[in-house]
Amino acid sequence: MERELALEVVRVTEVAALASAQWLGRGKKNEADGAATSAMRAMFDTIAMRGTVVIGEGELDEAPMLYIGESLGNGTEDSPEVDVAVDPLEGTTIVSKGHNNAMSVLAIGDKGTLLHAPDMYMMKMAVGPRVAGKVHLDDPIETIIDRIAEASQKRVQDVTVIIQERERHDALIEAIREKGARVKLFGDGDVGAAIAACLPQTGIDLFIGIGGAPEGVISAAAIKCLGGDMQARLKPQNDAERERCRQMGLADPEQLLTLNDLVSGDDAIFAATGVSDGELLQGVRYLGENTAETHSIVMRAKTKTIRFIRALHNLEHKPNLVWG
Ligand code: FBP
Repeated sequence: MERELALEVVRVTEVAALASAQWLGRGKKNEADGAATSAMRAMFDTIAMRGTVVIGEGELDEAPMLYIGESLGNGTEDSPEVDVAVDPLEGTTIVSKGHNNAMSVLAIGDKGTLLHAPDMYMMKMAVGPRVAGKVHLDDPIETIIDRIAEASQKRVQDVTVIIQERERHDALIEAIREKGARVKLFGDGDVGAAIAACLPQTGIDLFIGIGGAPEGVISAAAIKCLGGDMQARLKPQNDAERERCRQMGLADPEQLLTLNDLVSGDDAIFAATGVSDGELLQGVRYLGENTAETHSIVMRAKTKTIRFIRALHNLEHKPNLVWG
């Protein structure tokens, strides 16, 4: 994959974040998502690549844009053929309520390297480089916490677990508290939470819990860039979802998925731009005089370069983004 792509695709998440940030706190999650999707779709068309959406806004019959199988980019025969996974607005409810942690995110891999995860639940666990290879999703949570403490040279009471506040996690949260570790709950946006567990400066040691499978693959690309580890297991809720897994070639729908199953190959690109403030990135700020500021991260698995990009956008020159 050409390295220039990494700098190109950050413009895609920037434009999607700018478009959806205009809907912050307005109580309209579909409009916020729609704005991010159209902006992202338009910007992709300016990039020299031959991309196919493998994770997007849904199947062709449910999504007019960024649907699974859609071709993206204006590439010629010489341009790289890539898989594209997008979540134009990760945290639609967050934006509609004006809360923290919404981002626009995408991942790109060489053709055939990103798992075509169906839109269903997935059990996921992510840890940073210090703990990579030392914990297993099937270990009891108490063992996982002990191993993290040992590998990170932390006391158990200083180990911090980030987990989505959902009833389905009540027993897990209780067990973590019983063990004596710290729990950080979040409402929505588990891509950012999974990434936070891989960055030592966040103080978060473990991300665990059930969330969306598409978000799982996008997180896996980021974690590969950060040298962390992720393990996952699809959680089909009914026969139709189990059949969907079989169609993907998974004989056992709940088989363990390693980081390499989620994102195979040694290269991947991940880009994200903050929509509202979060652990990882600041959200879009309107500075006056038609200027908006964005904060993005873009990373590449092959070189492990992590770039934080602050951009000032003159909105007068991006009229398609101005909310009418
Ligand atoms: P949306 O952007 O689609 O609202 O997803 C937000 C999110 O919190 C994801 O980060 C997470 O994977 C998923 O929802 C969890 O699903 P649920 O809300 O059903 O618990």
